[in-house]
Amino acid sequence: MQRNTFGLEWTPELDEPLRNNLGQFTAVEIIPENFFQNRFKSFLDLLRTTQVPVSVHGVLLSLGSAEPLKEEHLLKVLEVMEGLNVTSFSEHLSMTEVSGVEFDALTPLPWTKAQLAVVGDKIQKIQDTLDVPFLFENVANRFVIPDGDFDEPGFINALLEKTGCGLLLDVTNVYTNSVNFGFDAHSWLDEIPASSIHTIHLAGGHHDPDGFLMDSHDNQVSEEVWDLYQYTMNRCQGVMTIIERTGNLPNMEILVEELKRAEILCSPFEKTLSIKKIEARV
Ligand SMILES: [Fe+2]
Repeated sequence: MQRNTFGLEWTPELDEPLRNNLGQFTAVEIIPENFFQNRFKSFLDLLRTTQVPVSVHGVLLSLGSAEPLKEEHLLKVLEVMEGLNVTSFSEHLSMTEVSGVEFDALTPLPWTKAQLAVVGDKIQKIQDTLDVPFLFENVANRFVIPDGDFDEPGFINALLEKTGCGLLLDVTNVYTNSVNFGFDAHSWLDEIPASSIHTIHLAGGHHDPDGFLMDSHDNQVSEEVWDLYQYTMNRCQGVMTIIERTGNLPNMEILVEELKRAEILCSPFEKTLSIKKIEARV
């Protein structure tokens, strides 16, 4: 049976605490763009020495843009990956660039057949270059573009089928969208095949002044997200769980506690209990 792994996303602020506690984690996530031009090389060297499993999570390839794949950028990502125990390379199912102008927001895509072709071609090119699995991540949608050919799970499933790649399932993003757009997160998750889920993101957010729930990574994971996480892990195995915490950082003990909670929820005993609870509700 493939084992589940658990870890944190590296940020410059967590550099020292992560080094000092690396033995407590069975996984780490890095954003490769942070390490371009040899920045933070000593942390990469530590990952190379320890061979801890690493999720490499890109932020600037802009899968949804109509422009050709940024091959030079991808080569830089490959340089960062060299010598690491990389389990996957992932990117967001969104757009971060139009006509060469980069913006600091994960812009949602239209869920159309035309957009599916654009993203699918880009993912296929990425897969041709990589020798590790490629995953795309569902994002927190600031808005939804109307008149698509699919709903969101339908678009994700069509893309999984077209490319054969995997999914980085951000459970917090599913919950956030369910709150902001009023759908049932459990039903959304039911539509995603368990075999496609390689990695899971968990994070905590807050409401903005308009009452919109933001995926801001600056809070502890909420009870509702823990519930959805357990619901997902009841049918998954061999998944890497990463907690994303980039703002309002607590001390490392609190983050380690959250990871321990994830680990406990995935234990066979807790899984059995939770499945029985769900069956009792039906
Ligand atoms: Fe995420």
